[in-house]
Amino acid sequence: MSPVDDYRDLLDAARHRAVEWLDQVPERPIPPAADVGEVKDALGRTLPESTQDPRAVLDRLADAVEPGLLASQSPRFYGWVIGGTYPVALAADWLVSTWDQNGGMRHSSPSTTAVEDLAGEWLLDLLGLPAASAVGFVTGATTANLVGLAAGREHVLRKTGWDVNTEGLTGAPRVRLVAGAERHGSVDLAARYLGLGAARLVPSDDQGRIAVDALADALADGEGPAIVCLQAGNVHSGAFDDVGAAVAAAHEAGAWVHVDGAFGLWAAASPRLAHLTHGYETADSWATDAHKTLNVPYDSGIAIVADREAARTALGIRASYLVAAETSDPHETVPEMSRRSRGVPVWATLAWLGRQGVAALVERLADGATTLADALARIDGVEVVNDVVYTQVCVALSDGARTQAVAAALREEGVAYAYTSHWQGRDVVRFSVSNWATDGAEVAATVEAVRRAVAAVDGG
Ligand SMILES: Cc1ncc(COP(=O)(O)O)c(C=O)c1O
Repeated sequence: MSPVDDYRDLLDAARHRAVEWLDQVPERPIPPAADVGEVKDALGRTLPESTQDPRAVLDRLADAVEPGLLASQSPRFYGWVIGGTYPVALAADWLVSTWDQNGGMRHSSPSTTAVEDLAGEWLLDLLGLPAASAVGFVTGATTANLVGLAAGREHVLRKTGWDVNTEGLTGAPRVRLVAGAERHGSVDLAARYLGLGAARLVPSDDQGRIAVDALADALADGEGPAIVCLQAGNVHSGAFDDVGAAVAAAHEAGAWVHVDGAFGLWAAASPRLAHLTHGYETADSWATDAHKTLNVPYDSGIAIVADREAARTALGIRASYLVAAETSDPHETVPEMSRRSRGVPVWATLAWLGRQGVAALVERLADGATTLADALARIDGVEVVNDVVYTQVCVALSDGARTQAVAAALREEGVAYAYTSHWQGRDVVRFSVSNWATDGAEVAATVEAVRRAVAAVDGG
């Protein structure tokens, strides 16, 4: 047998298991049927002493793992901000693994660099961001936030005459990081990585939007280099900061402005929703995720920096053994060197959907949220607590205990899935409409599931 036969047998088996799994997802109960310990037992906990039959290993893997999978690809799964996977994106992702290119350098993979270059250009076009920006394909919005803040740190310190790359932070002018009270935790993490310390928090309004006047006051109350972090899409309300006004205030104070738009930045791709991102293009850096709204497989974040040189100065490395391209290499504007060519499924999805298809996707998600919110509000005792402007819906019952009980009953039944959170002083059930497959029928089935959960709690 030639090696290609081994590949063929295993890939055929993997394809068979994958299709079987995908076939089950829409109707399978959403919660996992096995916990971590049970899956470890099923896998077998002992490292084998000798080489095993690869086909048996693959079967053991799929048999052991499938019961412990959360069916988060279900069109009735609303937890966190997850999204599903488009068929074309999944198929392209398989090819990425097959080609096994190192996507960090133009020399190590001219082809996937070309694909990612185009995907980057198309993204800037779709999102209405400056065409010369650096686009980095990173693991997720957490790393994309790190990229934006790293470029900002380098840039604002350099403007004071301090070269952080050679001098480090000890003795440097203090960089003030200013963010809204409802920023995502990954912004705090990026600040930790970068030695920026805790952000100064500016109050947010009742939808979680940063108060622009308070931002201007916070910047005026102090001096020295500053970075402002804004948000497109609050995880509870879906609300968007008034970025146009906030950037004007921040730039007036000489600050770098980064926008965390993990799922919200995609609103810019819809002519109907683009008003939400009005003025966003005036910021300095942006973070978003393709594994959320664009529905490509994990891991697929996107880091965008308007001033390519700022990103390159902050994150680029040079070494004699690397074969450096004359133009910049993909690794020079992100924290990683070797990596999979994760921009390829992004390209495939954009090439398939086209401009109108991306707009239609974003609008369908937002319309799904509006329809869901309207129908949930008609269930006796259920209150929608946010202004539904995008893809997020938060509901509450008369008290926290009932809210928790309804969410638990919903998950117990397993037809539709959402988790609780605490927002604006209340326990809420959060619904994030992020899956391309969540159509009107799935929303209607979700509403019926919530109705049953409320009835179970009220009757119980
Ligand atoms: C607003 C926001 N920022 C950042 C993140 C982090 O994204 P990731 O988990 O892709 O790193 C999330 C995740 O949900 C988010 O909603």
